[in-house]
Amino acid sequence: MYHDPVLAREVADRLVTSPGGLYLDCTMGGGGHSRLILESLDATGRLLALDWDEDAHTHQQGVDQVLCQDARVALLRQSFGDLDRLPAPWAEARFHGVLMDLGLSSHQIDTPGRGFSYLQEGPLDMRMDRRKGVGAGELIDQMDEAALGRLLRDQGEVASWRRMAHLLKQARAAGRLDGTAQVRQVVEDAFGTKGSYALLSRVFQALRIAVNGELEALEKGLDEAFRRLLPGGRLAVITYHSLEDRHVKARFRDWCGEGGQAGTRHVPAMRTPRVAHVLERRGVVPTAEEIARNPRSRSARLRVLEREVA
Ligand SMILES: C[S@@+](CC[C@H](N)C(=O)[O-])C[C@H]1O[C@@H](n2cnc3c(N)ncnc32)[C@H](O)[C@@H]1O
Repeated sequence: MYHDPVLAREVADRLVTSPGGLYLDCTMGGGGHSRLILESLDATGRLLALDWDEDAHTHQQGVDQVLCQDARVALLRQSFGDLDRLPAPWAEARFHGVLMDLGLSSHQIDTPGRGFSYLQEGPLDMRMDRRKGVGAGELIDQMDEAALGRLLRDQGEVASWRRMAHLLKQARAAGRLDGTAQVRQVVEDAFGTKGSYALLSRVFQALRIAVNGELEALEKGLDEAFRRLLPGGRLAVITYHSLEDRHVKARFRDWCGEGGQAGTRHVPAMRTPRVAHVLERRGVVPTAEEIARNPRSRSARLRVLEREVA
C-alpha cells in the first residue's frame, strides 16, 4: 500500500461542511484523504489535490487512477509553499476546506532509493521534490560545522548536536558518508547501538526538514491557505512532530485572537482580532486501535480551525 491515511475518518468528518464546495488537499500522497473527501462531496463538489513528489502523481496516474478518473478532481504537482502561485483556473480560488497532512508518506519512507530511512541502505538524498534543491549529502557539504550543529539542535532537537555535526562533517570529508547506512554506522560507532534509533530519527528529521525547506513551506502555506478560506471554511492540519505542531498551534492562536505579546503588570496583552475558532482546543490524536494498526500514526495530531463568517 502506498500510504495508510492517518486520522482519516476524523478528517473527513470535520473538513467537509459544503458537499457542493471546492476543497484543497495540499498533500495528496496515496490519495487516501482525497478519496474520503470525495465521498463526502456531491456531484457538484470539486477537489484540487497537490503533491510536489513525482511518485505520488505516478501512483495516481498509473496504479490507482481513482482520482484521475473522477471528473470532480484536478491534480497538480506543486508545493503548498507556493499556494500564492496557483495556476489558472485556481489563481484566485477560495476554498471551503483545506487539508495539510504533513511529513512523509509510507511510500517515501519505504523506498530505499529516496534516502529517507536509516533502516535501509540508500543515497543521502531525502528530497521530496527531486526537481529542486540539493540532497542531504550535498547539504552537509555546503554547511560549515557550526551551521550543521545548529540545524541538528533546532530542527532535530539532537542533544549531542556539536559532536554529531563534527562526526558527520569529518566522515563526509573523508568520503565515508555517501549513504544512509553510513550515517547509521557513524552514529552507532560514536554513540553505541543502544538508543541509536531515537538518535538517528532526530538526525534524519533535521536533515530532511532542511533539505525540503519544510518549515518555510509550512509557514507560507498555512498563511495562504487561511487567506484562501471562504467564510465558514475549515483548515485541517495533521502534524507529526513538535516543531510542526508548535507552529500550527501558534498560528491558529493568532487567528483565534489569542496570539500577540504577553502582557505585563503595566501593559495589557496585545490581542490580534479574532477571525476564526478551533474545533477542539487540544486537537485530535489517533485512537489506540489506529496506533496498533498503523504505528506510524502514533505522533499525529489533527488541528482544525473554522474561519468566522463575519
Ligand atoms: C503524510 S503524506 C500524505 C498522505 C495522504 N494524506 C494520503 O492519504 O495518502 C505527505 C505527502 O505530502 C507531500 N508533501 C510534503 N510537503 C509538501 C509540500 N510542501 N507541497 C506539496 N506536497 C508536500 C509529500 O510528498 C507526501 O506525499
